Amino acid sequence: MSNPPLRRLKPRVFSGVQPTNALHIGNYLGAIRRWVLEQDLKENFYCVVDMHAITVPQDPTTLHRKTRELAALYIACGLDPQKCVIFVQSHVRAHAECCWILNCITPLGWLERMTQYKSKAAAQESVLTGLLDYPVLMASDILLYDADEVPVGEDQKQHVELTRDIAQRFNMLFGDTFVVPAPIIPQSGARIRGFDDPSKKMSKSDAANRGHAVLLTDSPDEIRRTIKRAVTDTGREIVFSEAPEKLGVNNLLEIYELLTQQSRPEIEAHFTGKGYGALKGEVAEVVVEGLRPIRERFNALMTEPGELDRILDDGAARAAAVAEPKVQEIKRRVGFVVR
Ligand code: TYM
Repeated sequence: MSNPPLRRLKPRVFSGVQPTNALHIGNYLGAIRRWVLEQDLKENFYCVVDMHAITVPQDPTTLHRKTRELAALYIACGLDPQKCVIFVQSHVRAHAECCWILNCITPLGWLERMTQYKSKAAAQESVLTGLLDYPVLMASDILLYDADEVPVGEDQKQHVELTRDIAQRFNMLFGDTFVVPAPIIPQSGARIRGFDDPSKKMSKSDAANRGHAVLLTDSPDEIRRTIKRAVTDTGREIVFSEAPEKLGVNNLLEIYELLTQQSRPEIEAHFTGKGYGALKGEVAEVVVEGLRPIRERFNALMTEPGELDRILDDGAARAAAVAEPKVQEIKRRVGFVVR
């Protein structure tokens, strides 16, 4: 039996994104941008979770392309492969092995009450077992690396809390094995809203709807068109507010805040006396400039596939070096004959 994990100099972070549909500004502002800002302060593991993607039907050719594109986007957004382990989930088979073992200690009721499962299942004609099991695979991702922190948007908080419950249950049944991780949810940007309907979060599955989202690979003109069409309200006040009728304006202001890094009072003072047209125009320009370097680096990486393959091979080897011994420990704990 191995000892409990040692204290680290830097907290270890694990997070991931599914290579489904296109990445939007909510994924960037709610998750990836913060990973980039904190990469010097942490020990970083960032995964392209292709095994999660197939919990709803995927076209194989598209999944293959999107997996590579998402890895390129991680790097284009500023994750440095020297500072971060960037890898594809299915390249490290410990994830599937760990998931099976954790399935066998996770009560079905815990999975059936997940709100994301309930809403995704309601949208499917036939629900696949993998969709219900999705949070156990996510728990495996996190627990295999003894991650201290899991930076995610608001919608993933319940899954990280379930991960904590699974870790604690395993530790109770088989002895101290897993670090119990903490969800890290940002104060601003945890729930970027759809530009077409600010009562709903911006989501990859709705990203194809006209006016819903700005994608990281959109052209400047597409970005301007989407933001100029954003739904606001019939008032005039440009203030940060969670009041239901102000959610559209609040969303635009949060995006502006995150990309300019100005304080809320500064931003409200800047927009005093201006109209919604001016607000949308300025937000659009800030987004165009914020995404420009990402789009350029992404296009460059996609023309150099060899470089991307090298980064992913290296990431898979570094991830496996942590996950393989961990899964051996998990197997020993449950009583498997380990070879
Ligand atoms: P996914 O692919 O749906 O989303 C990736 C990240 O983007 C965040 N996000 C948002 N943040 C702010 N506003 C929004 N409108 C918005 N939409 C999405 C999500 O919260 C997430 O942080 N289950 C995860 C992937 C995953 C994972 C993991 C994450 C698999 N294993 C282990 C952390 C740790 C998911 O589907 O994310």
